[in-house]
Amino acid sequence: MNKAYVHGYDHQEYIRLQDQASTLVELLHSDTSYPAGSRVLEAGCGVGAQTVTIARNSPNALITSVDISETSLIEAKRKVAAAGVTNVQFEQADIFNLPYGPDAFDHIFVCFVLEHLSRPIEALYKLKNHLRKGGTITVIEGDHGSVYFYPDSEAAHKAIQCQVELQQRAGGNAMIGRELYPLLRQAGFNSVRVSPRMVYVDSSKPELVEGFTKKTFTAMTEGIRESAIKAGIIEQHVFEQGIRDLYRTAEADGVFCYTFFKAIGNK
Ligand SMILES: C[S@@+](CC[C@H](N)C(=O)[O-])C[C@H]1O[C@@H](n2cnc3c(N)ncnc32)[C@H](O)[C@@H]1O
Repeated sequence: MNKAYVHGYDHQEYIRLQDQASTLVELLHSDTSYPAGSRVLEAGCGVGAQTVTIARNSPNALITSVDISETSLIEAKRKVAAAGVTNVQFEQADIFNLPYGPDAFDHIFVCFVLEHLSRPIEALYKLKNHLRKGGTITVIEGDHGSVYFYPDSEAAHKAIQCQVELQQRAGGNAMIGRELYPLLRQAGFNSVRVSPRMVYVDSSKPELVEGFTKKTFTAMTEGIRESAIKAGIIEQHVFEQGIRDLYRTAEADGVFCYTFFKAIGNK
């Protein structure tokens, strides 16, 4: 993966993921809670931006959160300890080579991870091996093809497209949200249901203007400036215009829309 832009590594990215998580908690997670005593695997927990929410929504479930990045796990542990959450254990592990037996978990939770993987079906398939029969997997992903805004701007669309291009070059897929149904089906999950979760932002929702349009989406796009220009995908002045235009959508008459996709499947 390309460390220059992949989420979850540097401090700015850490702050962005925290902002993103707190803004979107209700929209993405309010309908996720696991029964008492159930064993839940959070695969690719990163800096723990979702972990506290998942753990608090299911206070009597036993959550195992894994990530391949040791640095991210240190942040995640700190965050969970600071929140006083005690039903989470962390382990450094690779989704493609997890140190657990078959049927080790009742539920699996995966958020913003598949978009970074070149073999998402294989990842889902591997995860399924550790799920008991009848258990569930929950997958949440964004889709960069779902962005529209007012005032519209060609430069802003071009800047967003840079993220799509860079992620594709790194083997990922920034437009994976729309593929969750076929991916889960191909990995052998049953009863797959997908619900689109649209974030609609106008200035009557100042916390979303700040927390989503500015601090999540535009900050994320700004974060790829150097990589995109260095890769020759976009001219610097077009990129800068695109960023200005994204901030413009956060003004009093601006509107911003983005859709996340949440899928649940059964083994
Ligand atoms: C964008 S972050 C998402 C983190 C967290 N789930 C969230 O929603 O904020 C993607 C995470 O997936 C992790 N990751 C990528 N490939 C992995 C693999 N093969 N095994 C375990 N974790 C992986 C990365 O280290 C990173 O922390």
